[in-house]
Amino acid sequence: MTEATTQQERRTAAPPAGTWPVGFMFGVASSSYQVEGAAAEDGRTPSVWDTFAARPGAVADASDGSVACDFYHRVAEDVALLAGLGADAYRFSIAWSRVMPAAGVVESRGLDFYERVVDTLLEAGIAPVVNLFHWDHPQWVEDLGGWRSRETAGRFGELADAVGRRLGDRVAMWSTCNEMFEHFALGHVLGEHAPGLTLPLEEAAGVAHHLLLGHGTALAALRAVTTRPVIVINSYAPARPASGSEADAAVAGLYDVLQNRLFTDTLLYGEYPADLAPLFAPYVADGDLALISAPVDGIGVNYYTVNAVRAVEGPVPLEVVPPEGYERTPFGWAVVPEGLTEILTRLAADHGDALPPLYVTENGCSSASGTDDPDRVAYLSSHLDAVGAALAAGVDVRGYYVWTLMDNFEWAAGYTQRFGLVAVDRETLARTPRTSYGWYRDAIAAARR
Ligand code: FCB
Repeated sequence: MTEATTQQERRTAAPPAGTWPVGFMFGVASSSYQVEGAAAEDGRTPSVWDTFAARPGAVADASDGSVACDFYHRVAEDVALLAGLGADAYRFSIAWSRVMPAAGVVESRGLDFYERVVDTLLEAGIAPVVNLFHWDHPQWVEDLGGWRSRETAGRFGELADAVGRRLGDRVAMWSTCNEMFEHFALGHVLGEHAPGLTLPLEEAAGVAHHLLLGHGTALAALRAVTTRPVIVINSYAPARPASGSEADAAVAGLYDVLQNRLFTDTLLYGEYPADLAPLFAPYVADGDLALISAPVDGIGVNYYTVNAVRAVEGPVPLEVVPPEGYERTPFGWAVVPEGLTEILTRLAADHGDALPPLYVTENGCSSASGTDDPDRVAYLSSHLDAVGAALAAGVDVRGYYVWTLMDNFEWAAGYTQRFGLVAVDRETLARTPRTSYGWYRDAIAAARR
């Protein structure tokens, strides 16, 4: 019996074959800067990630995304890999500086590329899911203040309009932004991601508000040009106090509001969580909250782990660490599949009828294994079971997307953390499907029986 078969048989807690809801989408997710490469081609100008990666010490292996997986030139080959999986959907993002290389300029060659991706997917019977912003805004936007400036929300609306007009209803589902919380926290408070800022919380609050405003502006722009569903993608992680101390309980509570509620409650209700509202008040103009809380057709849930939070001295009064007692991935992330069920059922319980359908838009793990990766198979199968448990509890979950198809540029970790169902040789860029690729193919086929 092969490892893949063994792992396949472990998937017993998930809904038995045939009981996944009709229309449930099994997909794979990716993002522009992490896979495209071709950084200076067809008019693309630098993004904040090109600039940030060039800073000494910013990226673990001193790499960048200038070549990445060279997806830009290998669309046909990579879509064939997706087709081989039997994936229903492929989620990818738009490199904003490919489409808008300068203020007020729309580069048609950038749009041509995304049109090619969409058409190649459609020809292969795979639904294109397009996310507009996955952290790589143009450097020229950053030079004008980036997300510290409310003007950026309007510029992002222009991107949504340009891409929406070109691709319109050929896209099966749209998303405005990926993980605003991570971009705010890692990029603008901790300085670990582009644009590498370490703003005090009072200023970072402006970044969060402008990101939300950008979401609302892009949503309105998309609504004007397409009837297809539009979602927004957030990251979620249960937050537990690292110890029994009151200080740890307090910061775990704060972290929970920031990660799990700020970018959800504000979207759903048009009000900042009461405990944080004063922080945002200076940035809120008339009409902002109505725009931000216009209805979406779904919320994307990116889930990887559970976080423990402890109180520390310093400008950021908390630190996130892995909870004790769990296996960890090479990234140091605790493997806690039940945390995914917890997040999905909590969203449903907290928001009831106010909650639109949920999509698990990212889930996966890094692995140090070669092409035989039983650890990834175990991770994915247990998390798919966790989605099954949420479905069984009555939560409206409509899709599950593995992060990710191919080993790629994992932000500040460079190429040192490999998340692919398919291995990518860094020298030759040759793609080799792993055991987990075969497992996912079989899991998708089994779910359809
Ligand atoms: C998520 C990001 C994605 C990828 C995974 C591992 O937070 O959205 O780009 O880096 O983590």
